[in-house]
Amino acid sequence: MPEPLLDDFPCRFLKAQTFGQNHYLLQKVDSTNQFAKKLAAEGAAEGTLVYAEQQTKGRGRWGRNWESHPGKGLQFSLVLRPKQQSSSGPLLTLLGAVSVVTVLEDTFRVRFQLQWPNDLVFGERKIAGVLTETLRNRSGVAYAVLGIGLNVNQRQGLFSPQIRERAASLAMVIGKDVDRFRLFADILFQLESDYNVVQQLGYRSILERWVSHSNLLEKKIVLKVNDGVERGWVKGFHSNGDLILLSEKGGSKRFSNGHVLEVQHAACD
Ligand code: BTN
Repeated sequence: MPEPLLDDFPCRFLKAQTFGQNHYLLQKVDSTNQFAKKLAAEGAAEGTLVYAEQQTKGRGRWGRNWESHPGKGLQFSLVLRPKQQSSSGPLLTLLGAVSVVTVLEDTFRVRFQLQWPNDLVFGERKIAGVLTETLRNRSGVAYAVLGIGLNVNQRQGLFSPQIRERAASLAMVIGKDVDRFRLFADILFQLESDYNVVQQLGYRSILERWVSHSNLLEKKIVLKVNDGVERGWVKGFHSNGDLILLSEKGGSKRFSNGHVLEVQHAACD
C-alpha cells in the first residue's frame, strides 16, 4: 500500500455524492491511474477516488511524463463504470476536460481553451491534462479510469526546463494562489454532475461545450499520428470525439488519436 497522506486531507470539502465517497488519499504513488486501475480490476465501486500529492511515474498520453509538485498541483483518478452505450475513453476524456474548464471559468472568470484531445490551455501554455484508460468487454466499457492533472499553485521556475516554456499554473494566470482543495471539491462535484447527465442523455451537450472551447477549429495544424504526420485544416469533431481534418493533400480524414505539434494561424477559406 502506498504511503497515505500525512496531513489531514480536508474531506469536509468533498460534496459530490458518489465521486470520492470511497477514497485513497496518498502522499506518494507511482501513478494514480495505475493504482486506480488495480482497484478497478479488483472491483472498486464507481466513483472511487485516488488522489496523490506526488506521483513518481505520473503518465500522460503518448508515453509522456506528468510532473507533480507536492503541495502545488492536483493529481487524481476516478474509477468509472459507465452504462451509457456510447461511452469510450476519448469521450470520457472530453468530459473530464469540459468539467474542469467549467469550474475554472466559473471560479476565476478567465477564459481557457481546450486543445484536442486532452489538454486545457491558456494561450499556448498547458494548465491541465486528462488521461483516460479503459478496459472494454463485449457490452462496452467494463471500467474506465479518468485521470486528471492540474497545475494550481506552481511558479514557472518549478516546472522542469523541458516543459517550462509550455506549462503554466492557475496561480500564474490569475496572479495569486488558489485554495487547492476547495477547487478540487468543486471539480469533483462538476465531474459527477456532468457524468450523470451523460449517463442519462448521452454526450451531445458535453460535445457542444467542448467544441465551444476548442482552440483548433478552422485552424491549420500539424498532427502527429501513429504512422507519421498529417497537415490540414480542422473542420470539426465527430460525435465520438474524433478530430475531422481537411487534409492538405485533399479529402477529409478522421482521427481518433493524435498529438498536435503545431497550430498555424492562417484561417481556412
Ligand atoms: C497528458 O498530458 O497527456 C495527460 C496527463 C494526465 C496526468 C494525470 S495526473 C493524474 C493521473 N495519473 C497519471 O499518471 N496521469 C493522470
